[in-house]
Amino acid sequence: MARTASYVCQSCGATSSKWSGRCDSCGAWNTIVEETPISAGPAKKSLGAARGTGMTLLDLDAEEAPPPRTHSGLDELDRVLGGGLVPGSAILVGGDPGIGKSTLLLQAAATFAKNGLPVIYVSGEESSAQVRLRASRLGLGGAPVQLAAETNLRNILTTLKEERPGLAIIDSIQTMWADNVESAPGSVGQVRAAAHELTSFAKRHNVAIVLVGHVTKEGQIAGPRVVEHMVDTVLYFEGERGHAFRILRAVKNRFGAADEIGVFEMTGGGLTEVANPSALFLGEREAPSAGSAVFAGVEGSRPVLCEIQALVAPTPHSQPRRSTVGWDGGRLNMILAVLEARCGIPFSGLDVYLNVAGGLRVREPAADLAVAVALLSAREDVSLPPQSVVFGEIALSGRLRPAGQTENRLKEAAKLGFQSAIVPEHSAAVGDHGLELKRFPDLATLVGDMFGA
Ligand code: TYD
Ligand code: MG
Repeated sequence: MARTASYVCQSCGATSSKWSGRCDSCGAWNTIVEETPISAGPAKKSLGAARGTGMTLLDLDAEEAPPPRTHSGLDELDRVLGGGLVPGSAILVGGDPGIGKSTLLLQAAATFAKNGLPVIYVSGEESSAQVRLRASRLGLGGAPVQLAAETNLRNILTTLKEERPGLAIIDSIQTMWADNVESAPGSVGQVRAAAHELTSFAKRHNVAIVLVGHVTKEGQIAGPRVVEHMVDTVLYFEGERGHAFRILRAVKNRFGAADEIGVFEMTGGGLTEVANPSALFLGEREAPSAGSAVFAGVEGSRPVLCEIQALVAPTPHSQPRRSTVGWDGGRLNMILAVLEARCGIPFSGLDVYLNVAGGLRVREPAADLAVAVALLSAREDVSLPPQSVVFGEIALSGRLRPAGQTENRLKEAAKLGFQSAIVPEHSAAVGDHGLELKRFPDLATLVGDMFGA
């Protein structure tokens, strides 16, 4: 069979027979690269000759024990993994370059090893000496972690087969190189082949494997997106460069809840765990001012309070600016449209800036109401009642929909000394936890009541 080259999008992995500037599948520009497919090996004779596959019955009566878990000693990491590391599982840790993935995994490797789990840390980016230097700077010098600086997949698999560690960390999947694939290291073909080999090794030999993957916003580096389908758990390590804290977020987990987060702070001595993120995110808050609202959010099972800041100013441009940090721009436009159409409050001719303080990225629709209230407060130059939190979803009709986990949000707000909560009318809460609940059926009623507009 003649081996024909195909063109592979380095962002989403879609293949096509010809090159083009823009990927038809994901819409990314300049991501299509020529790749030669994985070599097919010696030609198979006939499909009928193969051995059959063994099968077992799905026996629903037999109680299957939950998977055993190994604890890392880092509570924030264990929670995101769903309660600890499952033996033989494959985990992808993705994130922007320089965000702290290697630091996190080196620290995790050290604590796992101290807890008695044999760990191999394979670095394809740094030499063993560099990793050792980093470890000693992080105060991990004494941890019994085996280091290897290697990029050849075949060598790595041989070593893992001999050593049989409980956990192997591959940093990073983009540097791995399988010699049976002809494309360059870092290309989708290589990343996919290496991830496939390593994840199937994890299953066969019951070795947990962590793959580190760099992702850029532009999708320029071969995306671990293609790897996401192969692994059991996908974690993203995120944070803003200028801010110290980092969030480890589960976006897929076969062994636990997705959306769970772990919060860390990057310090001179590495990452430290943040047990109470709300206190951290609200720590920098000054006295309540116009344009600021505290959103009582929930990430996974965890309440996280954060400040939403809005600035509304007359625009010098013909097209007013809409700028957001930490919140979806489309959703901001939707809320502005609802305020205009349902409450008669126009924002045309006004620049609107929205910022989630501290570098947190909020994805919950329950933040709608906090965003709307911050915008109104900025526009009307009226401060909100001090010590109040806000949450609830806004429908296009302007009605307010209760958010999930109301109880959890109120409890956290009360714990941090807040005294009132602005919530949708039918929010279900067993108790008010000592907070004064201000309930509103729709946005127009809230606007009339709080801003007299
Ligand atoms: P690193 O773990 O190398 O990032 P990644 O593997 O995701 O590319 O982290 C690099 C950044 O972290 C670097 O900018 C410096 C910072 N850092 C600290 O602030 N403190 C530390 O103790 C360490 C080890 C790194
Ligand atoms: Mg790194």
